[in-house]
Amino acid sequence: MSIDPTRSHAPGATPPPGVQDTEGEAAARHNGPRIVARRPEEATPAAAPPVLAAEAVTFAYPDGTVALHDLSLQLPQGLRVAILGANGCGKTTLFLNLNGILRPTSGTIVHNGEPIAYDRQSLRELRRRVGLVFQDPDSQLFAASVRQDISFGPLNLGWSEEVARAKVEQVIADTNLGELVDRPTHMLSYGQKKRVAIAGVLVMEPDVIIADEPTAGLDPETTARVLDLLDTLHDAGRSIVISTHDVEMALAWADHAIVLGRGHLLAEGPPATVLSDEHLLREAGLLPPLVVEAYRQLRGAGLLPASAPVPRTVEDLTALLVRHAKPRLAADSPPE
Ligand SMILES: Nc1ncnc2c1ncn2[C@@H]1O[C@H](COP(=O)(O)OP(=O)(O)O)[C@@H](O)[C@H]1O
Ligand SMILES: [Mg+2]
Repeated sequence: MSIDPTRSHAPGATPPPGVQDTEGEAAARHNGPRIVARRPEEATPAAAPPVLAAEAVTFAYPDGTVALHDLSLQLPQGLRVAILGANGCGKTTLFLNLNGILRPTSGTIVHNGEPIAYDRQSLRELRRRVGLVFQDPDSQLFAASVRQDISFGPLNLGWSEEVARAKVEQVIADTNLGELVDRPTHMLSYGQKKRVAIAGVLVMEPDVIIADEPTAGLDPETTARVLDLLDTLHDAGRSIVISTHDVEMALAWADHAIVLGRGHLLAEGPPATVLSDEHLLREAGLLPPLVVEAYRQLRGAGLLPASAPVPRTVEDLTALLVRHAKPRLAADSPPE
């Protein structure tokens, strides 16, 4: 495994000098349908056992392409985890291994402490409990109407029809899909299809939802709706794992960040630590979040002290400027 100890931060580890987690009071909620950053103390990765883990997983496709190289990582229970990396770094391959659609060439996938088994019955149960939301909703939706699509899993699980129907109605209400239930799925917008695909996974009552690039290709408002929906599921106690190359969104949304590069684990840890490591991001083929870049330049210009924590949102950065830069600028400016 190729983890560089100088920049790979285990969950709960002390950040390197000059890099700290977001201050609680600065991590304020945005107004309106925006991405929400939570206080870091709300999430303690170190205390949470992994809901899923990959242990020394190597995966090669039949044509010989090795997509995952001796990959070991843990997905902490009850957290919002973002798996980041450039196109082709192995995010989708990892997700397909995590819910048993693909089987590692070598190594082990562990779910709630148990290595997963690949017999039919075990895989059925695994896929109910590890709900995968595909990147392309068209590969997930197949029934004629939204209600039929969401009902498919429950009606095939062996639940009584009464229980299955009640569960379906509950999920439709929870996901605010009420006005779409009788619409043909092929007539939905891309963003609506994404929400229906999430509902179709949620209705199976998984304990972890892994969503492959759930916000890719969505406009800002639909992105916010999808993230709000994932937050609602997280508030209900579920572990949520997403893949993305959107560093801004991951910084604001996630409790825990994992960075992959060419099928290798490059780093994992608090988003503010991982996503402020310029060298690491460059190696992963990603750019630093704009808010981190602005913070770095403001520090360089002497407007923020080295002790100022890394902001996760524009609101965080504004709070830092009000606290630190405003008094300095006021002191510097000559009296009128
Ligand atoms: N069916 C396939 N056959 C061969 N190679 C594949 C297949 N699917 C993906 N790959 C390769 O595996 C690597 C990882 O791809 P993928 O998991 O899709 O990455 P990501 O989701 O991060 O974009 C890439 O090099 C990609 O070309
Ligand atoms: Mg992918």
